[in-house]
Amino acid sequence: MSSENTVVLHKGLDNVYVAESSICYIDGENSKLFYRGYSVEDLAQRSTFEEVAFLLIYGWLPKREEFEGFVRTLRESYTPPQEVLAWLKTLPSQAHPMDVLRTAISMLSLYDRQGVDGGLEANRLRGLRVIGVTPTIIASFARIRRGVNPVEPKMDLPIASNFLYMLRGTEPDAFDASVMDKAMILHAEHEMNASTFSCIVTASTLSDMYSAITAGVATLKGPLHGGANEAALKYIQSVGSPEKAAEAVDRTLAAKQRIMGFGHRVYKNYDPRYMILKPLAKQLGERKGTLNLYLTAEAVERAAVERLSQHKLFPNVDFYSGLVFNALGIETDLFTPVFAMSRNAGWVAHVLEYLADNRLVRPKAYYTGKLNSPYVEMDRRGDKVEG
Ligand SMILES: CC(C)(COP(=O)(O)OP(=O)(O)OC[C@H]1O[C@@H](n2cnc3c(N)ncnc32)[C@H](O)[C@@H]1OP(=O)(O)O)[C@@H](O)C(=O)NCCC(=O)NCCS
Repeated sequence: MSSENTVVLHKGLDNVYVAESSICYIDGENSKLFYRGYSVEDLAQRSTFEEVAFLLIYGWLPKREEFEGFVRTLRESYTPPQEVLAWLKTLPSQAHPMDVLRTAISMLSLYDRQGVDGGLEANRLRGLRVIGVTPTIIASFARIRRGVNPVEPKMDLPIASNFLYMLRGTEPDAFDASVMDKAMILHAEHEMNASTFSCIVTASTLSDMYSAITAGVATLKGPLHGGANEAALKYIQSVGSPEKAAEAVDRTLAAKQRIMGFGHRVYKNYDPRYMILKPLAKQLGERKGTLNLYLTAEAVERAAVERLSQHKLFPNVDFYSGLVFNALGIETDLFTPVFAMSRNAGWVAHVLEYLADNRLVRPKAYYTGKLNSPYVEMDRRGDKVEG
């Protein structure tokens, strides 16, 4: 055991670097986010989710033939195995969609034709299959629990439009499809966060891609990670109108509660993803007749920035993403699954990058318990066990 003086505990692994990576860079002071060197603003403006997924996984922007092959592979995976679809129909309607997704991704490994091949290519293909099939699983469960039949995916639609189509039963217009696509790009990757690290821990034992992504989904589920947009939306809805915002924010802060969708471990300034989502939330509000909710959000934001910016607390991606998803007709408890179906791309990219230079993740715990305790036979143990 190390002597007490030489041990440095890194609770929560704050500021611990666990790998080299060329996938994502966050400049938290200057509100910058890059995927493989490309700014997230450029990608959201000019790219598509599929192209960004290729970029994250392979490391370069695809040429046309590369892109077409990649999209073909994703689309071949749109339809889940029949057994998974049949299983979705057996679930209690109140099951949380994140529990359903976690279990479904784990189930996919049972129907993988590649068996135990643990090579990089086999794992990459598994990753692409998960990216392709996840939207269908989420949308199918959302419909089944509403008591309506799942809608089969359309093979000629990109992932974002297809998801809205399968959820609603009608194809989205170009604006909704484009907003969904941008939201997926913005959620596709974010460096070494908790769920990505979970994926890596699992992959580092030479387990497989399904297990790694299952671990990622399980970790994303927690409210400290994936659930803040849902809480932000509920808060804004509870405020009710722009005039009530300042008073509501004062009440929340006086009660020592947090404004959801504010603050970030890495960003100490505006989150660049927030800056892209905010105007989209406004445009959606105007188009869908939910402008009052948007204006309430803006008033809450203004009041919160006035009170919190001195502490370097600014709105993050979650402040407006809930409004965006809500305006697109996505049920609140599907927000985190939608986050997961976007983040699949980043998870797959990180797992493959890590496996190319794998090292088993095996940290240490600093032992503070007893040693050499005398073993006492069961019948001779008193109420208070000694030793
Ligand atoms: C994201 C988050 C967990 C990052 O936290 P962190 O960097 O570890 O910062 P801490 O939790 O140590 O908070 C530092 C201080 O800021 C305050 N603070 C942090 N976020 C706050 C918020 N959203 N509203 C009000 N105060 C906040 C804390 O109360 C603490 O104040 P204190 O020093 O007086 O106790 C935190 O900002 C938070 O809980 N935000 C709300 C949830 C959210 O939006 N999560 C999504 C992140 S993408």
